[in-house]
Amino acid sequence: MKKFLFVLGKNQIVSLCEISHLLQFEPYKGKIIDYSKQIGIIEFEEIKKTESLRELQYRLGGIQKICEIIGDYPKKIFIEGFPIQKQPKKFKRARTSIENDLIPKILPHIFLNIQNKKIMFAISVYPYLFSKPEVSIGHLIQFLNQFIKNHLKKDLNNVKYFKYPDNLLKSKNLNPIWPHHVLVYSLLEFPNAEIILGFTKSKCYIAKTIAVDNPNLRKAIDEHRPKTRFEISIPPKLAKVLINLLYLPKNGLLLDPFCGTGTILMMAALQGINFYGTDINKDRIEASINNLNWLKREFNLNFQLDAKNVFNLDSTKLDSHFKENSVDGIATEPFLGPPLKSPLLKTEYQKIIDEEIKPLYEKSLLSMKRILKNNGNIAIISPVYREIDNKLVDFNLSKIAKNMGLKIIKLLPLSRFGIQKEIKYNKNAVLIRKDQYVMRKINLFKKIE
Ligand SMILES: C[S@@+](CC[C@H](N)C(=O)[O-])C[C@H]1O[C@@H](n2cnc3c(N)ncnc32)[C@H](O)[C@@H]1O
Repeated sequence: MKKFLFVLGKNQIVSLCEISHLLQFEPYKGKIIDYSKQIGIIEFEEIKKTESLRELQYRLGGIQKICEIIGDYPKKIFIEGFPIQKQPKKFKRARTSIENDLIPKILPHIFLNIQNKKIMFAISVYPYLFSKPEVSIGHLIQFLNQFIKNHLKKDLNNVKYFKYPDNLLKSKNLNPIWPHHVLVYSLLEFPNAEIILGFTKSKCYIAKTIAVDNPNLRKAIDEHRPKTRFEISIPPKLAKVLINLLYLPKNGLLLDPFCGTGTILMMAALQGINFYGTDINKDRIEASINNLNWLKREFNLNFQLDAKNVFNLDSTKLDSHFKENSVDGIATEPFLGPPLKSPLLKTEYQKIIDEEIKPLYEKSLLSMKRILKNNGNIAIISPVYREIDNKLVDFNLSKIAKNMGLKIIKLLPLSRFGIQKEIKYNKNAVLIRKDQYVMRKINLFKKIE
């Protein structure tokens, strides 16, 4: 198995940036060979086992599902078979040709050794979405459900499929099944299956889901930990993305010098990564320690947690505690400015930037650089503010980093893609909305010798 369909998260640029970064390194070397707004088609250089992809899914913050590709078709045949507007002549021929292919080429690979078994299956369709609707998803799903059920029923008595409500099947916005429901309906368990149809510019990939993001785990961490401060905490998914951008060596040491309530540290601990967390505020350090202790108990983990690895420190003076060249990677979200209930004027944003944000980022970044090992990465969030007319006010953290001799790592270099026209983004900046008026920008810097 070399080709897989990855279902991207809500912010597709963040998902592509995370996965395309990981694909540069062993053991995940590979390429994104095709994509749509919701999916990426990944080809690994080496064969991958299901178990290693389940580990990868656990590690990723921006991917909802990983699915093994069984086959691909020209998209045209589905447009003809399930048109938005009926074209009676063509659609029968196209449907027969899909049926004739499904039986020998697809279904035997999805349902293996299923004699005498009960089966539950579900179909999820991910349309292209970079153009106007092309395929009638409701019709496609109803057709496949019936066809697959009848086919399996020749050998089995007990075949069920996931029924979408009728009104949704008729509407134009039929959402695919959420990862949560894949788990609730045991669709990853043999002999059940979630069958995915993923459309890109010219193809329809048919795949079987082998791993999904576990939203219950994330929810537990986000909502049930003892200390939550939604207004300051980074979302756990984004914490994972930052950690993945570091690409730490085995047994590498991660530092979050603005650890707050400890979200990044918790996500690192869950992956068995050694960490340090520091913050200027003593209450936050206490919150991080409480949260990490809770995580230890709740997930039965064994990691070091004492005043030596989570403690009070001003990030502009990291070198007063850490030795030079001692940390392998830094993942952090510093102070993003005061909470805003309404947008400010450009001059007001500029004042916050000049007086609070820029000096803090400048001094901390310099201090981070000193204690970072050569070739170590800094994945750091910076704020971008929105004016009332949607114009963005940014400060140039990349320039500050460059002037310090840090290398700016492009998060989505075009060379890593086969096609790229549809995706609009700023190469150096991946933006995520934090609230109405503050956006998060992901920056990645490398310390070079
Ligand atoms: C946006 S919060 C970090 C949130 C954290 N990622 C979490 O999930 O809870 C920023 C943190 O930076 C800390 N901070 C602000 N100035 C600092 C400084 N000079 N040195 C260290 N920490 C600082 C604040 O106390 C706050 O906890």
